[in-house]
Amino acid sequence: MVTHDRYFLDKVTNKILEISHGQLYGYEGNYSKFLEMKAQREEMELASERKRQSVLRMELEWAKRGCRARSTKQKARLERLDALKNAGGPVKDQTVELESPETRMGKKTVELHHVSKSYGDKKLIEDFSYIVLKNQRLGIIGPNGCGKSTLLKIMAGLLEPDEGRVETGETIRMGYFAQEVPDMNTEQRVIDYVKDIAEYIPTKDGKITASQMLERFLFTPDMQYAPVSKLSGGEKKRLYLLGILQAAPNFLVLDEASNDIDIPTITILEDYLTSFPGIVVTVSHDRYFLDNVSDRIFEFDGSGHLQQYEGGYTDYLEAKERQMSLLDDRESIDKIVGNEEKKTLKKDWKQNHSVKLKFSYKEQKEYETINEDIEALEEKIAHLEDDIMSNATNSAKLSELTEKKEQIEEELEEKMERWVYLSDLAEKIEAQKN
Ligand SMILES: Nc1ncnc2c1ncn2[C@@H]1O[C@H](COP(=O)(O)OP(=O)(O)OP(=O)(O)O)[C@@H](O)[C@H]1O
Ligand SMILES: [Mg+2]
Repeated sequence: MVTHDRYFLDKVTNKILEISHGQLYGYEGNYSKFLEMKAQREEMELASERKRQSVLRMELEWAKRGCRARSTKQKARLERLDALKNAGGPVKDQTVELESPETRMGKKTVELHHVSKSYGDKKLIEDFSYIVLKNQRLGIIGPNGCGKSTLLKIMAGLLEPDEGRVETGETIRMGYFAQEVPDMNTEQRVIDYVKDIAEYIPTKDGKITASQMLERFLFTPDMQYAPVSKLSGGEKKRLYLLGILQAAPNFLVLDEASNDIDIPTITILEDYLTSFPGIVVTVSHDRYFLDNVSDRIFEFDGSGHLQQYEGGYTDYLEAKERQMSLLDDRESIDKIVGNEEKKTLKKDWKQNHSVKLKFSYKEQKEYETINEDIEALEEKIAHLEDDIMSNATNSAKLSELTEKKEQIEEELEEKMERWVYLSDLAEKIEAQKN
């Protein structure tokens, strides 16, 4: 199957194929496992890139020190230098850094007072009161048809409640992303759709133009100048979403924004929301998305009431489980409390004991002399090469010299590896100091 639904992927797959920059990668496992292994793969690629850079630095250093390229070994090294320079680093997936717009928000945001709403004899929301706090991230969950979209519309001021009232602060700029993408003018070019909303978004560090915004949301220049009618369903939804962000809201209401949207785009949206300095209310069935963008979950309980849970979706699940087991068995209380304590203890310990990089005494000594050691070995090799030349007719001597030379070359290779490791470490230590 092909799907963007990470929760679903997590549940039903045991092997994942990823297409990335023209390469196909296979991963044994579900989506979580895939994420883990992909991170590992990228980490490995980065590590070998770091090593490449390091070797490159080392080789340049040697080249600068007089380029003694007489021996074949040294010539080979210079060739290796060229190859390294031309190799290029790993291709990273495109990630996007978005500055969020500046928001000026007064004290009052959105307040719901004793809100009720029914359709016919179906009571969706009953006497719901809530004051949304600044920078709050609310997630709303519940089965199809329970009234999630209805609640969002009431919050956004698009629908009147039957009873109660909604008060909205004067500084609130509402951005409402509807569950159904509204009709778009399909003749219009993609870039103009965004420009019609706003030419640019002001941020702390300057302006983001419509075109930059599009680029950041993975619309290539070609796509930007194509008419909206050429876009796929998911791309239209992405455009609709970025149009809402382009209006620089400070209160975002997202009704299933992650549906139909591919994972890179969701990741971009998640990043954007992380640095978004306003309020976000989301309805989503995407557990990962909820985990990443919400710090409080409201659950429709089936009778028009909303239960509150602190944290993301995973926290909600854990809290639910806890509730269940508390009901089941009073004894389990002790166990749960105990586990929680252990967990926080572990976390605290980790936070207070972050690994501090440093050279061991031996490494320090080694680092101080390694350049000289390498030069000494190189000189030895050069001498041996001269000896080999002058003993060209003495086969016994020749094989002895050659063997010796190979041995020293091996030593040199090892030293160079150490050099890479040590200078890498030295750099990291330096970085940690600053
Ligand atoms: N304008 C309307 N007139 C009559 N009934 C409506 C209206 N809007 C919604 N409903 C009904 O209210 C209920 C809740 O609708 P709502 O769209 O809020 O659900 P939801 O929780 O968002 O569901 P989903 O997960 O499918 O998006 C549904 O049974 C729906 O049929
Ligand atoms: Mg809905």
